[in-house]
Amino acid sequence: MSGSEEKALIEAAREVRERAHAPYSKFKVGAALFSRNGRIFTGCNVENASYGLTLCAERAALVSAVSGGEREFEALAICAPGAPAPCGACRQVLNEFGPELMILMVNSSSHETARTHLSTLLPEAFQQDSLDICPGL
Ligand code: THU
Repeated sequence: MSGSEEKALIEAAREVRERAHAPYSKFKVGAALFSRNGRIFTGCNVENASYGLTLCAERAALVSAVSGGEREFEALAICAPGAPAPCGACRQVLNEFGPELMILMVNSSSHETARTHLSTLLPEAFQQDSLDICPGL
């Protein structure tokens, strides 16, 4: 991913955050995934009156990307107040498509961006090869 592609990815996460449906927490999150083919897919958090059915921005972006035919990703930008790391559920779901994903955590109220990799956030993940121990699968 080039410098200008990274800028575009961060901008996409910032923009989609504006469309978050977060009437309960008021905590808006935007996420943008950069595929190996150079395409960007976005998602925002979508809350629900039942609370527990809330969908995180990262998983919304991933579902959009997979639905759009992409399964290999280089980077994910997340934009929210305080530049948080993705929640545990999102780490697990993202890991399905590769632990080496670069994660850019962008502060929505400044230009601060922290970076890490999914494998750092989710070491020793439970994944496809964890199932190999089971004969017959
Ligand atoms: N949220 C995300 O969208 N991504 C995360 O990784 C953590 C939390 C959302 C869910 C909820 O709508 C709000 O942030 C507060 O938890």
